Amino acid sequence: MREATKILVFRLVWFLCIHVPPMFCANVTYDHRALLIDGNRRLFISGSIHYPRSTPQTWPDLIQKSKDGGLDVIETYVFWNFHEPVRGQYYFEGRGDLVNFVKLVAAAGLYVHLRIGPYACAEWNYGGFPLWLHFIPGIKFRTDNEPFKAEMQRFTAKIVDMMKQENLYASQGGPIILSQIENEYGNIDKPYGAAGKSYIKWAASMATSLNTGVPWVMCQQPDAPDPMINTCNGFYCDQFTPNSNAKPKMWTENWSGWFLSFGGAVPYRPVEDIAFAVARFYQRGGTFQNYYMYHGGTNFGRTSGGPFISTSYDYDAPIDEYGIIRQPKWGHLRDLHKAIKLCEEALIATDPTITSLGSNLEAAVYKSGTVCAAFLANIGTSDSTTNFNGNSYQLPAWSVSILPDCKNVVLNTAKINSASTTSSFITQSLKLKEDGGGALEDSSSEWSWISEPIGISKNGSFSKFGLVEQINTTADRSDYLWYSLSIDFEDDVSAQTVLHIESLGHALHAFINGKLAGSGKGNSGNAKVNVDIPITLVAGKNTIDLLSLTVGLQNYGSFFDTWGAGITGPVTLKGLKNGTTIDLSSQQWTYQIGLQGEDLGLSSGSVGQWNSQSNLPKNQPLTWYKTNFVAPSGNDPVAIDFTGMGKGEAWVNGQSIGRFWPTYVSPNSGCATSCNYRGSYSSSKCLKNCGKPSQTLYHVPRSWLQTDSNTLVLFEESGGDPTQISFATKQIGSLCSHVSESHPPPIDMWNSDSESGRRSGPVLSLECPNPKQIISSIKFASFGTPSGTCGSFNHGSCSSNKALSIVKKACIGSSNCKINVSIDTFGDPCRRVTKSLAVEASCT
Ligand code: GAL
Repeated sequence: MREATKILVFRLVWFLCIHVPPMFCANVTYDHRALLIDGNRRLFISGSIHYPRSTPQTWPDLIQKSKDGGLDVIETYVFWNFHEPVRGQYYFEGRGDLVNFVKLVAAAGLYVHLRIGPYACAEWNYGGFPLWLHFIPGIKFRTDNEPFKAEMQRFTAKIVDMMKQENLYASQGGPIILSQIENEYGNIDKPYGAAGKSYIKWAASMATSLNTGVPWVMCQQPDAPDPMINTCNGFYCDQFTPNSNAKPKMWTENWSGWFLSFGGAVPYRPVEDIAFAVARFYQRGGTFQNYYMYHGGTNFGRTSGGPFISTSYDYDAPIDEYGIIRQPKWGHLRDLHKAIKLCEEALIATDPTITSLGSNLEAAVYKSGTVCAAFLANIGTSDSTTNFNGNSYQLPAWSVSILPDCKNVVLNTAKINSASTTSSFITQSLKLKEDGGGALEDSSSEWSWISEPIGISKNGSFSKFGLVEQINTTADRSDYLWYSLSIDFEDDVSAQTVLHIESLGHALHAFINGKLAGSGKGNSGNAKVNVDIPITLVAGKNTIDLLSLTVGLQNYGSFFDTWGAGITGPVTLKGLKNGTTIDLSSQQWTYQIGLQGEDLGLSSGSVGQWNSQSNLPKNQPLTWYKTNFVAPSGNDPVAIDFTGMGKGEAWVNGQSIGRFWPTYVSPNSGCATSCNYRGSYSSSKCLKNCGKPSQTLYHVPRSWLQTDSNTLVLFEESGGDPTQISFATKQIGSLCSHVSESHPPPIDMWNSDSESGRRSGPVLSLECPNPKQIISSIKFASFGTPSGTCGSFNHGSCSSNKALSIVKKACIGSSNCKINVSIDTFGDPCRRVTKSLAVEASCT
């Protein structure tokens, strides 16, 4: 740039900085209490959305739903291996269009926390590291190692520069108020010793030197050097304190649920517990909290980490995998955010004064000048009543009451005013597109297929004495590596031979003389495979073809990049004639990286010699299948139900929707019928779907579909029946709410000027998810002591006989309705009992 242009640009930026709204050109700093925007302390609610886990078409909607849910900030990692698949070759298009994502967040008026890492973890393949990094001579990841530091610095600087070029830092008028370097290194740094300590110092000064103009954080890094803010990750962070009194208390990952693994049950986290954790955090001095995840999304393609991370990354987040608001989680947290914001002025003004109100009861008061806000917590597992400032307060077990005026309760974390919804997948028959046009019902003849050869079939195979490690061999270009051996037996071989295989993981299929003899798989706790497969050998030449496969590369742990995979042995034949065992491990094996079909590009559906005779092979291992289909009509989110298939990968119109594995079933035990939110949560506390396949439904983004003809290609490893595949659309079913006489009034009735709003009683509100809908039926209504959950409410021993007609009158025909939960509305069916109103409605 010429000097004159530079001056002009500078003047322009200066002009904009002075004249545009406060969000822009902000000076972001921090002190002991909070992040400061232009010198003003701010209280922030943030949520994670990882841009490659959804499609750009859905980003605006996801961001809007986040804003409506009360978020101020969107947090995302930057995924190095997604952006630099080949060293020096960058990809920032499509789902990788980071700049567009950040701009969309800004357009919605929200801020961004950019976690550059560039190590991410995140259940993402190899923790976000590109595989080529592993092959740089002398490299050691995440430690004081020159080749690693050079690459880490190069990529971090590249991202920072990109953001600067687009003026995306708050200091330039953009939305980015915070950045992260590294990720939870403090959790795993011990084995790295002194080199780990100096690495963190280096990372901090390298990041600082990039001059972003906004603060940097290091999460789970108690020794984060100044000026890095060390932050907390976990299910609870109220007990956390940063490593300096000059830094604010920040929570970068509040896990809203947990991730799913193939072979695991589906985790969920009750909203009462998350709300409790969030309220406790702000009660004890926190001023920035982020939901990990607010929208989890989908691990498309081969992006999932692991091993064994499922394709769904739903996370039980407030916005579900398909972009639908999860109720009452989203709504209750939105109410909570409003309640906390009502306290913002007091919260940022001072430190809390914390006192005990009795066993397991704790009050925090933020009082400064004329403002006063209080949080009353019951951290025990039984309900309590307590006295505070001369008034009596009921405090349900494991809950926090929020008092924005130190007197009236605007919200209790265990009392949900928000309505809940049920949603379900409705099966749509797989309509297959006939060449001539019309849609056909499912029929085998509409599938075509190609058999993937067993063993070595393509050029570029190589032979070597001994067994090789898989990741070093494939560089993760494919999940698959063939290990093949041909072995001669001169005379009769015993019928009871056992092929013993030991592998670092993650799964394998063994073929003897061209037939699948057995398989083995690890699990998310232990990726190793150790199998004994009974086989039959023949006199003369025998072929042993072992297909080893990875299911997402390790993303967490000390030195995780070196853990390895594949059949490293020993591989033996046990019980040969005379009971002898022979070790095949150091024989000359022939290796093939990947599949023939991968090299041919069969996934596109447009190349290859597809067989379309009527004898469609079913339950045949190593088969590619292809069909055409018509997209389910409407706008509801689409999934493919892979029940009937074994394991593999699927592509819709050439785009990989991820690995499918509906035959991996979770253990039978570990699921409680209902999960008690009271008491500490852990990732295995609340599980559902025990004894069932971990994942049968796989998201197909609407934007990947054409209305008319679409191609679906599958690669099936172990054997399945594609004619059983169906489509499903996700639809909202019932709308429910259950509000008691002891609930606080709706949060929106809080008005600091009028006592009346605060004194009004509890209200049950229903609102159809879509504003164009109306409430068409009331399936259940009971005032008294009803119990149960949405879809299965029951009347209790006490119930008003007027409830149904009153609710019908108030709600039917409207898109929303509100009913006072009070004996003034319903009469009193049972005196001296706290009553509640439960309603199930449906909208059309
Ligand atoms: C954290 C990590 C995240 C994610 C999370 C579990 O330890 O920082 O990236 O992996 O665990 O979902």
